[in-house]
Amino acid sequence: MIGLRTVMLVQMILVSSVGTGLPQLGSDVRVVDLRCEYMSNPLGVDVTQPRLSWKLESRWRGQKQTAYQVLVADSEGMLKDDRGNLWDSGKVASDQSIHVVYAGRPLTSRTRCYWKVRVWDIDDKTGPFSEIGTWDMGLLLPQDWNAQWVSVPGTDEDKGPQPAPLFRKSFLLAKPPVSARVYICGLGYHELRLNGEKVGDHVLDPAFTRYDRRALYVVHDVTSLLKKGSNALGVILGNGWYNMHTRAVWDFDKAPWRDRPVLRCQLEMTFDDASTRTVASDATWRVSTGPIIFDSIRNGETYDARLEKAGWDAAEFNDINWPLAEADSGPTGELRAQMMPPIKVTQTLKPAKLTESKPGVWVFDIGQNMAGWARLKVSGPAGTQVIMRYGERLHADGTLDQQDIGQHIKAGKPQTDTYILKGQGTEVWEPQFVYHGFQYVEVTGLPGKASLDMLEARVVHTAFDKAGSFECSNDLFNRIQRNTLWSYVSNFHGYPTDCPHREKNGWTGDAHLAAETGLYNFDSAAAYAKWIGDLRDEQRDSGELPGIVPTSGWGYAWGNGPAWDSAYVLIPWYLYQYSGDTRVLTERYDRHKRYVDYLTSKAEHGIVSIGLGDWVPAKSKTPEKVTSTGYYYRDALIVSKTAAMLGKTEDARKYGDLALEIRDAFNREFFNRETGLYAGGTQTAMSCALTHGLVPPAERARVFGNLVAMIEKNDGFLDAGILGTKYLIDCLTAGGRADVVYAMATKTTYPSWGRWLEEGATTLWEQWDGNASRNHIMFGHISAWFYQVLGGIVPDPEAVGFKHFSIKPQLLGDVTLAKAEHKSMYGPIRSNWEIRGDQFILKIAVPVNTTATVYVPSDKQKTITEGPDYIHAGDHTKFLRIEDEYVVFEVESGTYEFISQLPAREAK
Ligand code: BGC
Repeated sequence: MIGLRTVMLVQMILVSSVGTGLPQLGSDVRVVDLRCEYMSNPLGVDVTQPRLSWKLESRWRGQKQTAYQVLVADSEGMLKDDRGNLWDSGKVASDQSIHVVYAGRPLTSRTRCYWKVRVWDIDDKTGPFSEIGTWDMGLLLPQDWNAQWVSVPGTDEDKGPQPAPLFRKSFLLAKPPVSARVYICGLGYHELRLNGEKVGDHVLDPAFTRYDRRALYVVHDVTSLLKKGSNALGVILGNGWYNMHTRAVWDFDKAPWRDRPVLRCQLEMTFDDASTRTVASDATWRVSTGPIIFDSIRNGETYDARLEKAGWDAAEFNDINWPLAEADSGPTGELRAQMMPPIKVTQTLKPAKLTESKPGVWVFDIGQNMAGWARLKVSGPAGTQVIMRYGERLHADGTLDQQDIGQHIKAGKPQTDTYILKGQGTEVWEPQFVYHGFQYVEVTGLPGKASLDMLEARVVHTAFDKAGSFECSNDLFNRIQRNTLWSYVSNFHGYPTDCPHREKNGWTGDAHLAAETGLYNFDSAAAYAKWIGDLRDEQRDSGELPGIVPTSGWGYAWGNGPAWDSAYVLIPWYLYQYSGDTRVLTERYDRHKRYVDYLTSKAEHGIVSIGLGDWVPAKSKTPEKVTSTGYYYRDALIVSKTAAMLGKTEDARKYGDLALEIRDAFNREFFNRETGLYAGGTQTAMSCALTHGLVPPAERARVFGNLVAMIEKNDGFLDAGILGTKYLIDCLTAGGRADVVYAMATKTTYPSWGRWLEEGATTLWEQWDGNASRNHIMFGHISAWFYQVLGGIVPDPEAVGFKHFSIKPQLLGDVTLAKAEHKSMYGPIRSNWEIRGDQFILKIAVPVNTTATVYVPSDKQKTITEGPDYIHAGDHTKFLRIEDEYVVFEVESGTYEFISQLPAREAK
């Protein structure tokens, strides 16, 4: 095997410029996709020791990194000469290719870092350096900001509904700069414009945070937008969550941070002679108002096009009559860089249907439940008011039903945008500072008849890159997967939410229940890391957490408890498992400990009774103390494991012992030794005990058997709410009965995902019976199951981040084909399989620098082929064992095609 590779390498003479510049035999391993703190070429990194990751590619199997060298320089030229004046790691003997901590000269604000990597392969050969990647350091110190916070002159009373302010600053340049960056934080939301153009393609910047603890600034490269002569910066501010001036039950109008919109904006330019110049917000900026006369995130936006100030953001505009801005104290929170993907418009959908529900009341059906807004194209007389109401349900008579989504709004109308025409030909408009959850847009006030081409739906959410794909021969599963993805993105706008319409709240429980699905499908780690920072900002000294994050203060008295709050511990744990991120876990260690200590202070004899329980169950209810104590145990265990990782042996033991005490208490309180049932035997109680590992080992088989019997007695239906559904999926699969999950997931009557589809769902719903919201993500863990069980791609808890993983496709029901891909931090992992006659064909991809344990369904090792060979002659595959009905191999990196004979009962 080694021979084969060596022969091929000899044939492949690579010209390497390294060292002597003479042609050398080099490695074919290519270093690609450089990432700094998860992001590709980020601007505005404000951690002083950023973590660097790269992926490796090779045409050959069995490749891995044995050493690396990272070069970081502050000029591209220097790096091109292979000199790293900021950091030259030298040759480091290590297989670490993700989260390598920068260890060079201390990084200072604004430094543009150019970096590249080369690696040594399994034969200790090195290839060319990677392409050059970059990251820009942000503004690390408060004194780096020369810009002042500014606002429109006014008083505190002006916190009520006010037109969205426009800010403007013109300036002359003797020549264009060679490099220019804008650092901007405009709260609640801002849109930055330069010389008449919108800068970048972000919308709803910056992401929501608890502004009195932390506000985020965004960095743009604006070099190409500046010109010799006169230039102008323009900024429009929306209220967002910073100035929630309308009322709803969650009290954001009483938020301690609430204030009128404020702006801090700093344009820094460097010229060809190395001179620099800064244009920074201060009281010399001009302010005015424009056409946005109302904006409130839960209500909507009103735009009077007659008030547009044509050219206000262009250099030539005369602003002499505009008042001056006023210096403002700004939010009290620290300014940090927005180190996560921004919110963007990711798709534009054409409506599927248009009806006139009553004379002059037009209802556009987008055909897809979603988050975003409508773009309207209309013409008519000036002053005509077109009103767009958004919702996800219709009344029987075809009119819009906003009953559920509007129930908590205490002032103004829910999800309603108004456009007032200027009366000049065709007018195209879309809102800027709100988003809505909807499938239907009801339009009234049109000057004439509506037509389908008047309106488009703009899909808006945190613009993650996709990190996975899944499809299989079962169409129902494909549709569930599709709906899950829609609900997932509908519920991420800088922080994870429960629903995009009724609440837009960062319910912590919903977030952790969907986090594994999020990590399989999307490049979501950076966004989760940001939100875990938001939880830190909300954690009280007592250790307590609120049920929604960010919050104005609502959610400590109701809506929290371990089943929700554990997002704080569980999501970092998932980031560790799926992305190999130890920092997010260890950085918060003391706070996680404090949370567990808080639960201990609430526990009575090891049982925690506070908090919400299994929410929206199908029929059986489970006492909250069962699920709350289950999460208490899980959190204590994670704290103990993190302590061990940090070398804190004392703590590791202490929290390990605490976990054991909780387990004993749990069994004392809830386990009936005679019946083998927990808490009277609901599916949730049983699966809670099994999933968390609370069942005494000697009882595990009996409890598991009882759970399966219970489900069978319920005709294979799940009977659980959001917590129990995830437990069931996880514990049945771990116990070797994924077929029971398959049976639940293929149901098409109550309660099931299939039943929602039968009713026309295009997203996941809040409740099994279809009541309430129709765009919730909390039942979305089923998508993670598709990857884990049908694709069979499972991370190894002992070699995190998919450094090692297994590929174990399970043959279930009528599924004869599945294609799963997950783009891990090491590169794409693929598991594509198909049953053809009595043959099982499995094509897999294992990234360079990783290894996998592959389970090939078959009970006869000798009949398995891989590529052209029988497996015993295979290349880079090692037979391990026969286990159940699988032949198990250990494989090195590369692509493989296994063909096996299926055991008689599996063949189709
Ligand atoms: C939200 C849920 C949330 C729950 C907690 C609901 O109103 O929509 O998703 O987890 O409250 O009680």
